Amino acid sequence: PRKIILDCDPGHDDAIALLLAHGNPDIELVAVTTVVGNQTLEKVTRNALSVARVAGITGVPFAAGCSRPLVRAAEVAGAIHGDSGLDGPVLPEPTLELDPRHAVDLIIDTVMAHEPGEITLVPTGGLTNIAMAVRKEPRIASRVREVVLMGGAYAGGNWSATSEFNIIIDPEAAHIVFNETWPLTMVGLDLTHQALATPEVAAAIEAVGTAPARFVGELLEFFGETYREHQGFDYPPVHDPCAVAYVIDPSVMTVRKTPLDVELTGTLTLGMTVADFRAPAPSDCTTQVATALDHPRFWALIVDALERIGDP
Ligand code: BDR
Ligand code: CA
Repeated sequence: PRKIILDCDPGHDDAIALLLAHGNPDIELVAVTTVVGNQTLEKVTRNALSVARVAGITGVPFAAGCSRPLVRAAEVAGAIHGDSGLDGPVLPEPTLELDPRHAVDLIIDTVMAHEPGEITLVPTGGLTNIAMAVRKEPRIASRVREVVLMGGAYAGGNWSATSEFNIIIDPEAAHIVFNETWPLTMVGLDLTHQALATPEVAAAIEAVGTAPARFVGELLEFFGETYREHQGFDYPPVHDPCAVAYVIDPSVMTVRKTPLDVELTGTLTLGMTVADFRAPAPSDCTTQVATALDHPRFWALIVDALERIGDP
């Protein structure tokens, strides 16, 4: 299995990403780290531990990371994810204890303790922890196998006209991460807006019939309502598990090698992920973007993970 560190801000779709990573046999979750984003660090960290209990995750270190972006003031997404960051289901009291290390140190320790090319970073929140980690320990850049992140958009944002939430909340961190030497796959809105939880998807999840599946159903119900009200979607796009799905099976989506950079000085375009689609991409290009999703296969992975998790 592929060893991943999930760096997240749960978050309805982060929670589903965590369940997918735990339930899929081709992934080994070696650490979970949290970062301010959808809600405050305190709230998203508690949510991560609650989801761990729902999923029956034990023996994996969970560590809290940065409570503020590198440069800017923190901005949370209460309108989308609710006051807790994970509104909808009842959140069980966590049973796992947090790792005493800062997330940045847990990331560094984990990458340095493994062979080069073993650890894949899967960020599904703002990139503050990842940027801090590679600045503190630059050797991780060449040891990480690849970074597969949910964030960005090349054709229209969700937090501004041009920019996606995970990037615009800490654009300086994103700039650091996108310009590192590690291979980077951007699973942005261009892809994740195809990962809609349609009524058929909701029915397939309900049919699993377990407590974790009911938990996901309740997450999707709340997420569906806020996406209808605030973003004009018929069904919610479930962003974050798309990045995990790519690590499990790259053929679940189409990707294209494309130079990418993050806008830091635009007056209208702060936090835009600028993709240069002029062909051919230079041979030293280390970045690629996801463009098209195999919707049935993606959701089959989620249902399969829930079936394997069962009722822990
Ligand atoms: C991203 O922003 C967050 O609200 C979601 O969890 C996802 O990571 C989508 O723009
Ligand atoms: Ca997220």
